[in-house]
Amino acid sequence: MKVTAKDLGKLEKTPLVVVFVTEGVRPQLPAEAKVPAAFAKDYEAKPRATRTTFASSGPAERVLLVGLGAAKKVDVEGLRRAGATAAKTAEGLGVARAVLRVDDKIAKLAGGPEVVGRALSEGAVMGSYRYSHGKSKPEKPKCAQLALHGSGAAFKRAVKKGAALAESNCFTRDLQNQAGNQMTPSALAAAARKLATRSPRITTKVMDEKGMRTMGMGLLLGVSQGSTQPAKLVHMTYKPKGRSKGKVCFVGKGLTFDAGGISIKPSAKMDEMRYDMSGGAAVLGAFHALASVDVPYEVHGVVACSENLIDGNATKPGDVHKGMNGTTVEINNTDAEGRLILADALTYTGKKIKPDTIIDLATLTGAVIVGLGHEVSGIFPTTDKLRDELVAAGESVGERCWPLPLFDMHKEGMKGKSGDLSNIGSPAMGAGSTQGAAFLSYFVDDDTEWCHIDIAGTAWNTADRGWVGGALGSGVGARLLIEYLETRR
Ligand code: BES
Ligand code: MN
Ligand code: ZN
Repeated sequence: MKVTAKDLGKLEKTPLVVVFVTEGVRPQLPAEAKVPAAFAKDYEAKPRATRTTFASSGPAERVLLVGLGAAKKVDVEGLRRAGATAAKTAEGLGVARAVLRVDDKIAKLAGGPEVVGRALSEGAVMGSYRYSHGKSKPEKPKCAQLALHGSGAAFKRAVKKGAALAESNCFTRDLQNQAGNQMTPSALAAAARKLATRSPRITTKVMDEKGMRTMGMGLLLGVSQGSTQPAKLVHMTYKPKGRSKGKVCFVGKGLTFDAGGISIKPSAKMDEMRYDMSGGAAVLGAFHALASVDVPYEVHGVVACSENLIDGNATKPGDVHKGMNGTTVEINNTDAEGRLILADALTYTGKKIKPDTIIDLATLTGAVIVGLGHEVSGIFPTTDKLRDELVAAGESVGERCWPLPLFDMHKEGMKGKSGDLSNIGSPAMGAGSTQGAAFLSYFVDDDTEWCHIDIAGTAWNTADRGWVGGALGSGVGARLLIEYLETRR
């Protein structure tokens, strides 16, 4: 979907013009479009209610009304959904392009032109997403071009930015949705390499298993040893235009398929474990956005890419492996593999990058779905500042985050018997998501600001919100991380 921004002038020739309408207001149709007199009769402008007609004359062939509900209640989420409704309806009508009119009254809603321009454009692009990689004859979208017409430079900038961020979300979804045999650790690393060609400010290094062995990454290698696919450790770097205000590192779980290992998962829904690389996909998605959005930080992205399978060489329950920081871990459940590959990625981050802030994203535990469901990611921030920044960023971009507890007693519960740590806590301890975070805490310096984000619930199978949601990947994380960088203090 190509989205452009233009001034709200005289209506140009177009197969479809979209007009947004709030409740109790007569639809402001462009003067040039002649429609049947009764077209807008009794149209109530309920949220996402649509009505279309052919114009009898004028530059627009058809007119589409999209309802926004009561003006006072219009928020960013409602605008994203309206943008998606406009794009999807245009696609359904089969038009090749459409003009979306944003008159000055609509531009004043929900915080003004910047909010409106970005939300409509994001909603339209994300709402138009379709996954076609697996199909032998992918269906081409009919409506490939949307022009948002509104007033002012801020509106136009916001439209462009919304489109760029939405594209990053779609890029993330494309990585997630590919099958396990397509999106292998090597393929994920190749996608990261390719991102560096999008901007001179981005570079990518990929470490292979030989390098990992030299660095002593026994935990990442221990997970991968049951797979014929070699593990990869991706390290992307973004250098800002001007002086850097600090160093931030995003770390992702790029587990391209999680069968559970010898502690094998049940077959039902095991196919969904191709999404177990969603944290890594989100980190790549953020770098996709950094090719077009400037931020004043040096940003690093580290993704541990691996597969967790079953094989004669696979790690067995009870095996002990040593991590890059020297910590030994007894692997009492080979299905708790995400924390193992992240452990070495976090050690690498602390030793080689030394960031001010680390944020890791991982589909780490089924337990977070029990606690927070599919619409909220669980966060474990080490500072109140980082907690507030992530909760606020999540709210802005529609990817909500909520803090979960991580105390010293939880960390103590991860001590091992035959190794320093165990990769699972005792059943009596409970709090499965906290156990995962507690394990990870042993691989981050106490004085580094850090947040673990568990996206196991939000990465796929989320509620259908028009612009995102449904059975496939949600692309969660990419827009969240950029919003975080833009609002970080
Ligand atoms: N990738 C899974 C977590 C997961 C499960 C994500 C279901 C989404 C849906 C992770 O590697 C895992 O298997 N976690 C175990 C940990 C347990 C063995 C301590 C889990 O959550 O059951
Ligand atoms: Mn697992
Ligand atoms: Zn996993």
